[in-house]
Amino acid sequence: MATILHLDSSITGDNSVSRILSRSIVERLANAGPGTEVIQRDLVAAPISHLTLDAFADPSVLDEFLAADTVVIGAPMYNFTIPTQLKSWLDRILVAGKTFRYTENGPEGLAGGKRVIIALARGGFYGADSPASALEHTETYLRGVFGFIGIEPEFVAADGIAIGPEQRETSLAQALGDTEKLAA
Ligand SMILES: Cc1cc2nc3c(=O)[nH]c(=O)nc-3n(C[C@H](O)[C@H](O)[C@H](O)COP(=O)(O)O)c2cc1C
Repeated sequence: MATILHLDSSITGDNSVSRILSRSIVERLANAGPGTEVIQRDLVAAPISHLTLDAFADPSVLDEFLAADTVVIGAPMYNFTIPTQLKSWLDRILVAGKTFRYTENGPEGLAGGKRVIIALARGGFYGADSPASALEHTETYLRGVFGFIGIEPEFVAADGIAIGPEQRETSLAQALGDTEKLAA
């Protein structure tokens, strides 16, 4: 049976754009594959602790990730990067010998073959030509981190959310439309 791991990291509850998007993606994928098991992990309701020497590895978090065929992540931009709750999860996923290893030819990702879909919500616009593009450390960071472990993530993005209610509706509708283009 296919397994989808559904992660959310927005702190904004029912107003969350990334939560609306991630839920829509998971529903779409689950409907397309009857019998799919969905495992939900709300990283805000049940936070994973900061990385310390005493709380370093967490096999349950890592195994849950490794067992999933598809991972759908709601990832808002807070202060130009991912929420700290999502970082704590990533800190348990990037594990030498499990999801990557160092070889004579440099680092090698070991977690390939898994589909990762990321629902981004950002207050502003960060396209290559925008003045704020150098501050984009959400999509670029997640692309880099998952690339490091051998996964090329897919992104759906709602941008300009903080500009005003009209832009929020336009961007959300466009992003929800984009979720329909994701291959089942
Ligand atoms: C604490 C906080 C920090 C934010 N920082 C940024 C930021 O640095 N850049 C930006 O473009 N938008 C920022 N925003 C706006 C969010 O990216 C936007 O509201 C987005 O919809 C958040 O995702 P969510 O709706 O799923 O929570 C911030 C919002 C909050 C609540």
